[in-house]
Amino acid sequence: MKYSRILGTGSHLPARVMTNADLEAIVDTTSAWIRERTGIEKRHLVSEGETCCDLAEVAARRALDAAGVQASELDLILIATTTPDRFFPSTACLLQQRLGVRGCPAFDLQAVCAGFVYAMDVADRFIRTGAAQRALVVGSETISRILDWTDRTTCVLFGDGAGAVVLGSADEPGIVSSHLHADGAYKDLLQVPGGIGNGRPEAAFIEMKGNEVFRVAVTTLGRIVDETLQANGLSRSDVDWLIPHQANIRIIQATARKLDLPMERVVVTVDAHGNTSSASIPLAFDQAVRDGRIRRGEMLLMEAFGGGFTWGSVLIRY
Ligand code: UT7
Repeated sequence: MKYSRILGTGSHLPARVMTNADLEAIVDTTSAWIRERTGIEKRHLVSEGETCCDLAEVAARRALDAAGVQASELDLILIATTTPDRFFPSTACLLQQRLGVRGCPAFDLQAVCAGFVYAMDVADRFIRTGAAQRALVVGSETISRILDWTDRTTCVLFGDGAGAVVLGSADEPGIVSSHLHADGAYKDLLQVPGGIGNGRPEAAFIEMKGNEVFRVAVTTLGRIVDETLQANGLSRSDVDWLIPHQANIRIIQATARKLDLPMERVVVTVDAHGNTSSASIPLAFDQAVRDGRIRRGEMLLMEAFGGGFTWGSVLIRY
């Protein structure tokens, strides 16, 4: 029996920072509203010409260094993204070329904010079946490119960034279990309505019925916690760290309460990064690994909820 183990992590944030005060000059908002309703203080944004692949490459190289793995040893490259550089080739193929690798499968996966947990599940299946020994899994986003900067209900919420992990085949977990779900009945609550369905793509921006998304997110994430623990015969106290998708501090706090976890055992980056969609979990994960909070042997629960709706969890013995 083979399992996937985390060999290394990496992340990258673009240099440009936008604070809540900066946003006050752009839309009718206040720093206090943003902080109190979301927990966000600032976010990083790409500059002119900076792309999803640029962010992914730096995160990927850092993860490969941390893992002690050469790019040539990879036999799978997977990028979760909603904001790829091009319609095609996939950003994963662009990254493969930058890393100087040829031949291994490389593809993008689009599950919006749940993209990273989806990608971890897929990579885990490659490794468990022996189809891959070393997999690079990246979450990378330039969400700022699909924001309507006149819409205060969305533009204050998001940021750009990338995170990556290198997974390797091992005799023990590693990834203990993963649980994925989707329900397209909610397609209109959180969406970018533009696309190629109506011909040439027009300018396309995020639209969200935030309040309704919030309510479904809290109950759904509560259920995914129960599902993950029950599937493994675990109790809440078996989880050492919660590494949640970073959409809103109030959603994160609700999931922590569900787990009976103090906030000191929850990796929070929403204050500094905003919502970076599929990049938020690997960004938070890498930060807590590098600052020494998360240690080998600990049990980690990742969970995410996003447009679709899509949601899921990954339970990891680190
Ligand atoms: O990552 C994918 C999943 N996404 C999420 O999980 C996001 C889920 N939703 C949320 O995080 C929250 O619903 C928001 C942060 C988006 C909004 O917070 P809320 O507490 O649900 O506020 P609301 O939408 O109910 O709006 C409350 C008020 C409204 O004014 P009125 O109608 O009460 O007069 C809004 O117009 O806040 C107003 N408002 C703002 N005020 C200042 C909305 N956006 C802003 C803003 N600045 N940026």
